[in-house]
Amino acid sequence: MDPADRARVEAWLRYGDDLGLGPYYRSRATQGTAAEPELGAQFGSAPRAMAAATPARASAPALGLAPKTSVSGSQPAGGAAQKSAQAAASVLPVIAGPSLFEAADRIENDTLEHIRADIGDCTRCKLHKGRTNIVFGVGSMKAELVFVGEGPGHDEDLKGEPFVGRAGKLLTQMIEAMGLRRQDVYICNVVKCRPPENRLPEKDEITTCSPFLYRQIDVIRPKVICCLGSCASQTLLQTTQGISRFRGEWFDFRGSKLIATYHPAYLLRNPNAKGEVWKDLQKVMSVLGLQPKRK
Ligand code: URA
Repeated sequence: MDPADRARVEAWLRYGDDLGLGPYYRSRATQGTAAEPELGAQFGSAPRAMAAATPARASAPALGLAPKTSVSGSQPAGGAAQKSAQAAASVLPVIAGPSLFEAADRIENDTLEHIRADIGDCTRCKLHKGRTNIVFGVGSMKAELVFVGEGPGHDEDLKGEPFVGRAGKLLTQMIEAMGLRRQDVYICNVVKCRPPENRLPEKDEITTCSPFLYRQIDVIRPKVICCLGSCASQTLLQTTQGISRFRGEWFDFRGSKLIATYHPAYLLRNPNAKGEVWKDLQKVMSVLGLQPKRK
């Protein structure tokens, strides 16, 4: 096999292992058949397979949201070359068996601690170079409501906690207006490391990091996921449509109800949009049976 292809396959396998998909690859290996396409051809679809492994399954198409047809692959770096190469040769060409999508749907007995441990001292994407702290997520693992933001900013990077800066204070106010406390919900981001100069996370960074978000959501199994802003909603709904097209609508996301609303940072710049966001939050409250906080 071409050494460059081999290195890419190995990187994908390591990445799969990091995501807890190692057992899946191994179990598929036992169902193998001989008549398989070349590994190179199979590898061409590896990024797609990982997109499937990132279990973003929402009812977006039914609601007219165009799902992404391709996801750029990330190229994780580092070790275990020989073992992975053997696994690649025996595992990747297999066609029979359950789809990667189904098999990777949920990782049995996963926990937030496992996910954090799997992230480790992550160097999978370039964002690691500028970070101070990985910002994993905070709140209750039994939360009925999960807020998903974009990525840590300056304050979050320093503290290692999401939404602690100006936008975070506004989010806390929003949560309290709903009759909840910050510790009653779970708060996390699409990417766990701060993008430089608070730029938007790039596609490869999102592709690399979002599987950990999916696992967090799978562990918590909230009743409602509230996506804050375009990045979170486009990532989870697998769409490129602008948030204003679908904000305030309900979607299904792996057994949770998902709603998108504007990001608190947007509200800081556009306070007139607060009314729209409050309407969205009231929809969430009605699903969760919450009463607004009394003054
Ligand atoms: N904006 C985000 O999207 N996430 C944070 O954690 C902070 C600001």
